[in-house]
Amino acid sequence: MKIRLYSSIGLVIIFILGATYIIQNNRPLVKNNEVYTSVSNNNSENAIELEYDMSEIESRSTKGNCWAAIDENVYDLTSWINQHPGGREKIIELCGTDATGAFEAMHGDSSKAKQALILLKIGTLNPSSNDK
Ligand code: HEM
Repeated sequence: MKIRLYSSIGLVIIFILGATYIIQNNRPLVKNNEVYTSVSNNNSENAIELEYDMSEIESRSTKGNCWAAIDENVYDLTSWINQHPGGREKIIELCGTDATGAFEAMHGDSSKAKQALILLKIGTLNPSSNDK
């Protein structure tokens, strides 16, 4: 009898924790009147796609961040600078630029590099602003 009671309580706790996790992860963050999504990389229908101009990518990269465009997508490479197996410099050179050519030249057929990019995506490039 006690075992059934304890397992029911356990199930209820697991359910509440699971529901809290799902709600937290889908909740958009609002900062400085801009909406950021905490889950922006899975292309699910709920994800809000933010569109950036090249000029914004350039200006963000002068303020301690490192943003770059690759293939019409925008990536925040800031955290990747210290993680890149090919060295910091290779990523620092890309900050504020359209890095499509550099990325394709080095990693065009590397699924590991493409996988790393998925996690860094923050939005898409406004096509009319692309000056590559
Ligand atoms: C955002 C852009 C980039 C991402 C996400 C990225 C990602 C990666 C990843 C995941 C690896 C490890 C590959 C493996 O273990 O098989 C790697 C290695 C490397 N990357 Fe990059 N990379 C980027 C840009 C570049 C650029 C522009 C260059 C050169 C101009 C470069 C040069 C290298 C080199 C030399 C290595 C080590 C050799 C190798 O494992 O292929 N990377 N990069």
